[in-house]
Amino acid sequence: MESRKIAIIGAGNLGLAIANGLVEKKQAKTHEITLTRRNTDGLQHLMDEGFQVTNENSAAVANARLILLCVLPGQITNVLEEVNPVLKPNQVLISMITGVDIKAISSILETKLPIIRAMPNTAIAIGQSMTCLAAEADSKAYLPEVVKLFDVLGETLVIEEKLMQAATVHGASGTAFFMRYLRAATQAGVQMGFESNESQLIAVQTAKGAASLVQMNESHPEVEIDKVTTPQGCTIEGLNEMEHQGFSSALIKGVMTSFRRITQMKKGRNE
Ligand SMILES: NC(=O)c1ccc[n+]([C@@H]2O[C@H](COP(=O)([O-])OP(=O)(O)OC[C@H]3O[C@@H](n4cnc5c(N)ncnc54)[C@H](OP(=O)(O)O)[C@@H]3O)[C@@H](O)[C@H]2O)c1
Repeated sequence: MESRKIAIIGAGNLGLAIANGLVEKKQAKTHEITLTRRNTDGLQHLMDEGFQVTNENSAAVANARLILLCVLPGQITNVLEEVNPVLKPNQVLISMITGVDIKAISSILETKLPIIRAMPNTAIAIGQSMTCLAAEADSKAYLPEVVKLFDVLGETLVIEEKLMQAATVHGASGTAFFMRYLRAATQAGVQMGFESNESQLIAVQTAKGAASLVQMNESHPEVEIDKVTTPQGCTIEGLNEMEHQGFSSALIKGVMTSFRRITQMKKGRNE
């Protein structure tokens, strides 16, 4: 049987969320996961839970079947150069790093091994991530194994690598966009008379219910809107006023501004 050992290089926000999620969903036992950071002082409690913790990336990688890269973009070259001597072709490298493409990663590697790019979001900490995955032709055979890993942490979608920047904005930055909607809806509720905690509860559960209706009914948002909007009623009047004020347009323009920025940032890194 293949080794299930996983090395998480860069146990920060994302790395720790993935580690905890995999253990919680019984995809790995704590002793099968090695977490690395340059400064491991804050990881003592995880050692107590059974995780392997080290500041030596090479030691972590040497024993792993899956290597998850979760460092910041500026740290990837150092990390890959450090682990180069111990990489083996039967390992799989999964990079969560924003804006660093597969070609850039493979150009640093001295050993040819499968490389998968993954773009999750922060809801991975509670098993509700939207994770987009991409691989080049020679690594596609390893996608099912990686999809299985991320499937337990939310929804997964395999995409072409050229859509990775769009996936970052739509899925990962998207969390922030929805948060802003929740904040605005909560403020409106307070203005109508609710305490802020009550208003937030109503906003959050309503958003969750609305998203679930589209997901579970496999319907279109407009179909669900039709069910709420009675002719000459309050909902359609509110919706139309939002559109007169540019609601959809503001959202699309915001998303496209983020997309232009991420494209510009990636171009800067490649130059
Ligand atoms: N957060 C998200 O929602 C999200 C979503 C999708 C993708 N991403 C991507 O995931 C990556 C990590 O994001 P994050 O939010 O988790 O960042 P983060 O909290 O800053 O975590 C990065 C971690 O890497 C460690 N690190 C830095 N250099 C290292 C080295 N040479 N060896 C081992 N560990 C090292 C840092 O700890 P030390 O300083 O102690 O070494 C830190 O704990 C980024 O590239 C980001 O673009 C994040």
